[in-house]
Amino acid sequence: MTESEKYESNIRNYCRYFPKVFTKSKLCKMYTGENEEYLDFFCGAGALNYGHNNDYIMEQIVDYIKNDGITHALDMYTTTKCDFIKKFQDNIIKPRGYEYKMMFCGPTGTNANEAALKIARKHTGRKNVIAFMGAFHGMTLGSLSLTSSLTARRGAGVQLENTTFIPYCRNDFDSLGYIRMILNDDHSGIEKPAAIFVETIQGEGGVQVADFRWLKELAELCKEYQILLVCDEVQVGCGRTGTFFSFESAGIEPDMVVMSKSISGSGLPMSLVLLKPEIDCLTSEEHSGTFRGNQLAFVGASAAIDYAIEHKLWDKVKDDEQYVKGYIEENILPISPKIQYRGRGLIFGIDFSDFDDKRLVFRISQECFKRRLIIELSGRDDSVLKVMPALVIHRDELMAGLEIIRKAIQVCI
Ligand SMILES: Cc1ncc(COP(=O)(O)O)c(C=O)c1O
Repeated sequence: MTESEKYESNIRNYCRYFPKVFTKSKLCKMYTGENEEYLDFFCGAGALNYGHNNDYIMEQIVDYIKNDGITHALDMYTTTKCDFIKKFQDNIIKPRGYEYKMMFCGPTGTNANEAALKIARKHTGRKNVIAFMGAFHGMTLGSLSLTSSLTARRGAGVQLENTTFIPYCRNDFDSLGYIRMILNDDHSGIEKPAAIFVETIQGEGGVQVADFRWLKELAELCKEYQILLVCDEVQVGCGRTGTFFSFESAGIEPDMVVMSKSISGSGLPMSLVLLKPEIDCLTSEEHSGTFRGNQLAFVGASAAIDYAIEHKLWDKVKDDEQYVKGYIEENILPISPKIQYRGRGLIFGIDFSDFDDKRLVFRISQECFKRRLIIELSGRDDSVLKVMPALVIHRDELMAGLEIIRKAIQVCI
C-alpha cells in the first residue's frame, strides 16, 4: 500500500485507474521506479501538449531559476510577465486579427471560468447563463454550476443556480432553434442569459465535436441577442485541434476565451481569460488572488509559443489527425459495427455507448494499462475512450499506442 492510499483523501482519482508509482517522464513516456515504460495517451488531461519535460521549454525554466528569476510577485509587473504578454499578443492574437486583453486568474481552469462568469454577469447585469449538456467547466461553485455531470454537481452540497442547460450540437435536435425559442418567448420561464459558455469539443463530455457551422450560428445568435459568447479552451486550446485556438476554423471571435492546462507549456499551473476590451469591467478588488500569474509558468508559456512556431507543431497535428482517423477507420471500426468515433486534431473519442456492458470501456482502459498505455475514459457512463497524446508524439509512438488500443478492444469485446 502506498503512502497515498494510506493518507490521501478519498478524492484520489486517476491513481486508482493507473495504480503505479511514477518517478520520471519524458515527452510521451512515463517511467515507474522499476523503470517500466508507459506510453502516455492521457497527457495530463490536456496539460502536457508539448510533452513531459520538453527539453527546450524546461531549459528556459531551469535557466530562469538558476539566475534567481522571480518565482512569485502576485500581479506586480515583471519582465517575465511583460515578455509573455508581448509574445502572446505578437504571435497569437494579432496575426489572427483578434483584439483581446489578458486577465491572469488563479492557477487552474476553474478559476478562469469563475472570472469569466463574474465579468459576464457584471457587464450585462444578468444572472442566468446558458451551458450545454455534457459540459465540463470546473469544480468550484460557479464553474460547477455550468458543469452538467449530476455526480459532480452533487458534490457541491448546495443548490447550483442560474444556469440553463441546452442539448449540445447534435443531428437530432435543433439546440440553437431552441435557444431562439426561449429568447423570443416572454413565457419561456427562462431569463435571458448573460453569456453562453461553450466548448468546441466537449473533452470530458465524451469528445463530442461541434461542427463549425453550428459554432458560427451560435456566435451570430449571441451577437443578435447581445449575449456574451465564452469559449472554454481549457482542454482543446493550445494547438490540440491543429490550430492554436480550437474555434479559429469556425471563423468566430468569442467575447471571452478561457485558457489553462497547456498554456504554460510545462505542466505548471496557469490560467488566463482573454476578453474584449469593452467588457473589461471587474475592478481589482472584485477578483484578486495571491497566485494570479505564475512566473515560472510565464517563462514556459513564452518558450512554448517559440517551440510551437519553430517546429510547425500545429501543421504536424493536422497530419497526425489524418493518420489517427485512417487508423481508427481501418483497424478499429471493423472490430464491431457498434463502435463509433469522433475527433479533431489530436483528440479522439472511441465511443462504446451502443454496447450493453457499461464496464466495457473501463476494462479496455485497464487492458491498455496492462500493456503499458495510459489512456482516460470520458463521457456519459464513461463510455468513451479518449485518445489524447502530447502533440509532440512521434509517428511510431502514435502507431504503437493505437495498436495497443486495438488489441485491448479485441481482448475485451
Ligand atoms: C473544458 C474544461 N474547462 C475547465 C476545466 C477545469 O480545469 P481545472 O481542472 O484546471 O480547474 C477542465 C478540466 O478538465 C476542462 O476540461
